[in-house]
Amino acid sequence: MEFLKQKVEALQQEIANIQPGNADELEAFRIKFLGTKGLVKDVFGAMKDVAPADKKDAGQLLNAFKQFAEGHYEKFKHLQGGSGQAKQAGIDLSLPGTHMPVGTRHPLRVTENEIVSIFNKIGFTVAEGPEIEDDWHNFTSLNMPADHTARDMQDTFYVAQNPDWILRTHTSSVQARVLEEGNLPVRVICPGRVYRNETISARAHCFFHQTEGLYIDKNVSFADLKQVLYYFVTEMFGSNTKVRFRPSYFPFTEPSAEMDISCTVCGGDGCNLCKHTGWVEILGCGMVHPDLLRNFGIDPEEYSGFAFGMGVERITQIKYQVNDLRLYSQNDVRFLKQFTPIQ
Ligand code: DAH
Repeated sequence: MEFLKQKVEALQQEIANIQPGNADELEAFRIKFLGTKGLVKDVFGAMKDVAPADKKDAGQLLNAFKQFAEGHYEKFKHLQGGSGQAKQAGIDLSLPGTHMPVGTRHPLRVTENEIVSIFNKIGFTVAEGPEIEDDWHNFTSLNMPADHTARDMQDTFYVAQNPDWILRTHTSSVQARVLEEGNLPVRVICPGRVYRNETISARAHCFFHQTEGLYIDKNVSFADLKQVLYYFVTEMFGSNTKVRFRPSYFPFTEPSAEMDISCTVCGGDGCNLCKHTGWVEILGCGMVHPDLLRNFGIDPEEYSGFAFGMGVERITQIKYQVNDLRLYSQNDVRFLKQFTPIQ
């Protein structure tokens, strides 16, 4: 047994001193130590000379030695870049891999996904409509007949080939698309891109994104509207956020309101985001106008509902404090990569 120990130690020492520098030297090492007539095999042959009482220890010793020799071989094989084949092909497998940059979601999509999933949780499903709309769905059916002044507020892009076709100015057009399907009750959330003929600046753009909500059922009241929107705000901005409703006017709702939240940056003390008022406006809302229900053959005595519409850029601006709208469409990766990586 002592003799075996010494022999193994000597061999281990020898192996440790060999550092094969190329494929040929590595192969020579393999043949010498690990080959069928190699020294590892040879030393295993010495087992027969070991006393029966020592056989167990000797077995362990030899196995550990074998592993050592194999490990040494594998290490150099790896360092040299794997098999001889890869080497011959000029591929160095030991080089670090090429870094593949992981993409990121667009910040507006991050926000939109979050809005949608918050409303999904309370039973709203997604509805979508076309970006090239007709006058009826975007305006007339929503209580904005041809001479309505509210149309002027939304500088509309018209499609040259057909004056009845426009680029939708708001996602409220999807309300019309959903209502004409005639399925009640309605509980939808409608994200999408909208267009207005505005000069591009830090604060305005010719296209942007909105998310519309529509809820129609029996016995829906303003209290339901408030509770749903309050739930949304606390999910989106945290449970400390306060809300307030200000009376407003939209042709498709009556009564109408605008909703503000307590400033998420200064907590209400006053800062640039809230223009030192402590409040930031985030959406328009109201009870669906009875005329609008009638336009789609729904009896306002039987059904009522609420609607709301919010700007996705606005919500994103508040969440991430982005203060130039143009950043969203410039595709500058230095800006884009600051947002959630794709999971
Ligand atoms: N469509 C409005 C806009 O673009 C936003 C809006 C206000 C939508 C009130 C609504 C609502 O559904 O009830 O400014």
